[in-house]
Amino acid sequence: MSAATAAVLREMRWWDIAPVLELEHALFPDDAWSPGMFWSELAHARGPGATRHYVVAEDPATGRITGYAGLAALGDLSDVQTIAVSREAWGTGLGSELLADLLKAATAFECATVLLEVRVDNLRAQKLYERFGFEPIGFRRGYYQPGNIDALVMRLTMHEHVAENAQETGTE
Ligand SMILES: CC(C)(COP(=O)(O)OP(=O)(O)OC[C@H]1O[C@@H](n2cnc3c(N)ncnc32)[C@H](O)[C@@H]1OP(=O)(O)O)[C@@H](O)C(=O)NCCC(=O)NCCS
Repeated sequence: MSAATAAVLREMRWWDIAPVLELEHALFPDDAWSPGMFWSELAHARGPGATRHYVVAEDPATGRITGYAGLAALGDLSDVQTIAVSREAWGTGLGSELLADLLKAATAFECATVLLEVRVDNLRAQKLYERFGFEPIGFRRGYYQPGNIDALVMRLTMHEHVAENAQETGTE
């Protein structure tokens, strides 16, 4: 059984912040989010006016968190705020599962467009986004600090994504 099929996706709660931060520091050593950033995101993730969707992937056998992702909805635009998978689980499809979950949430938020920023040198993540139909639309110079690394901005138009999925599954 692959790590992807072993992981269960569920809503991220405040008690997940500590283990998520451990992964965050391992995967984003130069620009890890602070605890306050996760607290502030989760504060907007529940209730009728929620604008955030945060999810963790948990190994049901050990309770260990192996990935997490979050989306912010702003009107009919949404933004992939973060997505990460523990290094041991890379290449097992977990990143794809997390991204698919965020896109389902974008549909639920009735967003027409999903945007994201990715480091220009993060080809693995760019390839994942391209597989889901994201297209590069520009750069944000020096977006990642320290290091002054540029961000590639990518965009997915939801109606195209839905049409493509329907074609693949024959459900149009
Ligand atoms: C980017 C990231 C989230 C991708 O996660 P992932 O779990 O490796 O993603 P996936 O497994 O879904 O896809 C990656 C590769 O695995 C392959 N794959 C997918 N399902 C698979 C399966 N069941 N078995 C084997 N391989 C599989 C995919 O084909 C893909 O390979 P390819 O890129 O050569 O086509 C992960 O590398 C990561 O956390 N990186 C550090 C943090 C980061 O950079 N986040 C993005 C910030 S913008």
